Amino acid sequence: MNNFHFHNPVKILFGKGESSNFKDEIPVGSKVMILYGGGSIKKNGVYEKVQEQLKDYEVIEFSGIEPNPHYETLMKAVEIVREKGIDFLLAVGGGSVLDGTKFVSAAVHYPNGDPWNILSKGDIKSITNPLPIGAVLTLPATGSEMNGNSVITRSETKDKLGFGTPLVMPKFSVLDPTVISSLPERQVANGIVDAFVHVMEQYLTYPVNAPIQDRFAESILCTLIEEGPKVMNDSSDYEAAANFMWAATMALNGLISTGVPQDWSTHMIGHELTALHGIDHARTLAIVLPGVMQVMLQNKKDKLLQYGANVWNVTNGTEEVKVNTTIQKTVDFFESLGIKTRGSEYGITEATVDEICNRFEQRGVNALGEKGDLTIDNVRQILKMRL
Ligand code: NZQ
Ligand code: ZN
Repeated sequence: MNNFHFHNPVKILFGKGESSNFKDEIPVGSKVMILYGGGSIKKNGVYEKVQEQLKDYEVIEFSGIEPNPHYETLMKAVEIVREKGIDFLLAVGGGSVLDGTKFVSAAVHYPNGDPWNILSKGDIKSITNPLPIGAVLTLPATGSEMNGNSVITRSETKDKLGFGTPLVMPKFSVLDPTVISSLPERQVANGIVDAFVHVMEQYLTYPVNAPIQDRFAESILCTLIEEGPKVMNDSSDYEAAANFMWAATMALNGLISTGVPQDWSTHMIGHELTALHGIDHARTLAIVLPGVMQVMLQNKKDKLLQYGANVWNVTNGTEEVKVNTTIQKTVDFFESLGIKTRGSEYGITEATVDEICNRFEQRGVNALGEKGDLTIDNVRQILKMRL
């Protein structure tokens, strides 16, 4: 196992009714901005519960944070925060609202010009006095509720870039699984696949004799495989929703990545597909991951065999047969959730493949994967194979 430092200070308030039970987490006298998306919270009762919790605070609302949150929209929130002297941010929504709120938090007192530098230049070290954040999560998927990551899109240039720092981790996150009952099936499926691929990015690399991390990872995958379809069939199934929600949080809160190599190439490539074609984040991952498994087989073979045996019970045949069966089982799982796994089914052509490779070349992104040996040629191979 590799060395690691692990510190996750996010307080989790988990369970039915917790969205009506968080007011003590916000410092008395705070001037609070509630940030939310396109209005789902006004249809499912979450908005009223949040209002009730904040009735003793001065509150300003900022709505309209879009899926794949836009820098342009968020900068409007930054202006209002500065102008009104807001000192606490409450994100109410899915990963996009949470990520957007993290950017606002980091941007408000950013001293080095345009806060886009945080993303484009990776200028984390200049972030000063980020505003404290609380979150009421309405969509299990990204793990944003318990990590310091944020992915932001600049619509003008179609760049979708991420940053990560403990400075923007929420002080607390409310995880009330009853919110899942209002999710469209498409978003439930997206959430299951996103969480699944988060685990794969931290697990499907090469062995470093870390059985705790491996077994945690496998348990999250098995839970998503068992509980995910139950939520798809009946989103008001509280037990299944609770297990799905906690699985998605555990998939990306830093625990399973301790002391092990990580990949993240599927996400890097997937973000380009969203930026250029507007495809839902999770769907891009379902396209790309099977290609990464095939093309990077030599790096990943030991873990692929372990994953096949422990998660899909694939134990018969030659190594080649087992690997192929395992990859096919993964694809079948995504498709069983109604997620298409071929680029052409989303209108992606070879022209997009070339464009993505050119963008990586311009940005100097040419050493992806757990060993830094996934080249731009490999990216081309992966995407062409998945058209
Ligand atoms: O905007 P509203 O009206 O709220 O509707 C949203 C949105 O249209 C809707 N929704 C959310 N909760 C709902 C609901 N509708 C009904 N009932 C509810 N309870 O769902 C739609 C999608 O929401 P969004 O927040 O975009 O989805 P998700 O949580 O999947 O977040 C995706 C974003 O997170 C980033 C992605 O790149 C993408 O931008 N990621 C963030 C990560 C992180 N911070 O660690 C890691 C991930 O890999 C990912 O990159
Ligand atoms: Zn993801």
